[in-house]
Amino acid sequence: MLLCSFHKLVSGLLGYLQIKLPSKSNCKVEQKSLKLLFKNGNPEEIHANSFDDAITHRYTCSRFQNHDESSIEHQQVISDALQILDVARRAPSGFNVQPWRAVMVCSTEAKERLSRYALAHNADRIRDSDCSVVFLADKECGREMSRFGMFLQEQDQVVAKAKNRKPMSKSKVRYTQALVLLFSSGYPIPRWIGAPFSFFVRLGVAAVSVLSRRRILVPSLSSAECWASKNCMLFAMSYILGCASRNLATAPMEGFNAGGVRKVLGIPKRFAIPLIVSTGKPLQQADTISGVEGDVSVSSPKHVYTNRYPMNQVLYQDKYGQDFTIQKH
Ligand SMILES: Cc1cc2nc3c(=O)[nH]c(=O)nc-3n(C[C@H](O)[C@H](O)[C@H](O)COP(=O)(O)O)c2cc1C
Repeated sequence: MLLCSFHKLVSGLLGYLQIKLPSKSNCKVEQKSLKLLFKNGNPEEIHANSFDDAITHRYTCSRFQNHDESSIEHQQVISDALQILDVARRAPSGFNVQPWRAVMVCSTEAKERLSRYALAHNADRIRDSDCSVVFLADKECGREMSRFGMFLQEQDQVVAKAKNRKPMSKSKVRYTQALVLLFSSGYPIPRWIGAPFSFFVRLGVAAVSVLSRRRILVPSLSSAECWASKNCMLFAMSYILGCASRNLATAPMEGFNAGGVRKVLGIPKRFAIPLIVSTGKPLQQADTISGVEGDVSVSSPKHVYTNRYPMNQVLYQDKYGQDFTIQKH
């Protein structure tokens, strides 16, 4: 009976895949971002170039131009960063739950307060850059299950109309909400109960998998913080690449005291703080960092980008450790 319900739970994932269609309001944002990508000409060409360019020209900026709060330059960066954040919200997330928030710290006073809890040079980056975006991962997304349920139904109504089918039933919505709770471990109960509860649920699910010798496919569940942070980091990375594509320099940082950051920004305990990204204009066109030997070497006269491990030590074909037989063109 227990095994059967787990099986049912996993097969519900199929339904989950159908749910992930854009809502009406999200489509508007998407159209706006596509317009920005295509504004220079052939959509296909721009798309390919902008992706490669954003990735290869992104680097961690160590020193930013310090603009005055009232300057046009500062206002421009803030406005660009806000637009990029708005587009970056389109990042994918498990069940489209979007378990994230972001606080953009941009006033001189707020930057000063935040910088007190950043380690070493990270403090200068927060002070000098135009803004720092503090990414928050929701460890208790279960607290917003009713909002998520309404969001699902609203989205599904549009899809159902377009596909000429019945809208999602209430029980299907509840079933999806249960799946979200299972995957996210974000139970809407106090952490001191939620954490051990999540541990035992994960243990139980893992035991089913082992005892049934994997004949019953159950998901490998992660802790609430891990689940929320992995989703939030996609949002953060989308923001970082968005900045690179619009010529804004960024510095992602984990070197800060989360308790202090939480205190100065008034962040509730339910949120983890996986990353802060300082954003602005670089002091020089690009910092000079010496690269190490390897297979990736991108450089400009002013900048040597950091290197990466050789491709064959990182990428495999078909099986772990197996070299690619496909050639790169
Ligand atoms: C999750 C994460 C945390 C980071 N934290 C810091 C940090 O606290 N301070 C810092 O100077 N750089 C930090 N970095 C930047 C890395 O050092 C940098 O990305 C790496 O050396 C590669 O260099 P590149 O970004 O210029 O390619 C962080 C990067 C990531 C992805």
